[in-house]
Amino acid sequence: MEKTAAKKKLVALTGAGVSAESGLKTFRDSNGLWENHDVMEVASIEGWRRNPGLVLEFYNQRRRQLESAQPNEAHKILAELEMYFDVYIVTQNVDNLHERAGSIRVLHLHGELTKARSVQDESRVYDIGYKDIALGQTGEDGAQLRPNIVWFGEAVPLILEAERQVQGADVFAVVGSSLVVYPAAGLATALRRDARAFLIDPKGVDVFLPENFTIIKETATRGVAKMRDILLGH
Ligand code: OAD
Repeated sequence: MEKTAAKKKLVALTGAGVSAESGLKTFRDSNGLWENHDVMEVASIEGWRRNPGLVLEFYNQRRRQLESAQPNEAHKILAELEMYFDVYIVTQNVDNLHERAGSIRVLHLHGELTKARSVQDESRVYDIGYKDIALGQTGEDGAQLRPNIVWFGEAVPLILEAERQVQGADVFAVVGSSLVVYPAAGLATALRRDARAFLIDPKGVDVFLPENFTIIKETATRGVAKMRDILLGH
């Protein structure tokens, strides 16, 4: 495909599977995070109220792991596709591997590990890089800091913006998500019927997908390379 002035719009909805080959565990695969941690203890607003120390430690560990993880070929190819498409990444991941691979437009539906926020005021957000958050550590408002993560039981503020992006997509790719967590899982229904769509996942998914989806049963690095070759006509 030639580079043209009016690029088509490609929206990629990514999940934990896109970062699996970077060494970050998925949630629901065997030996995934939710097999070794109780999701409602470490990733829900009720869990936070019951035991904030446990929750902070869970995310401190994730942040330390992220510091030594590197973007993989799937992240990199999605960034390179910006030469040919207007690429919008809508990710459920809280890691920063898309940004580190060079993607410009990344919407984090479920928040970001490298940011903390006040428990009292969600607009007070701080970049913390890979540093831990401690119990007793406060923002300028004197309130405890918490990970800037959207937990179960909380609203997903960026879902409307994500829907808008998907509605405008000429190409839509779901990479490495089980599509079981709403509202993110419902984003495919916002897709135009004439859009081209891909699902990349070594296992496929158990949910109904519209007919316009091409299923690529490969890991993210191989599957995204395959999708690139199809899109660029190689
Ligand atoms: P899941 O763990 O539910 O699903 C990961 C998907 O990635 C599965 O379909 C796997 O088959 C697939 N997968 C595994 N290895 C892969 C690889 N190398 N390449 C490509 N795909 C691979 O993760 P998510 O769908 O991202 O939310 O989970 C959604 C949300 O549930 C997360 O954002 C998180 C979690 O609870 C919160 O914590 C709020």
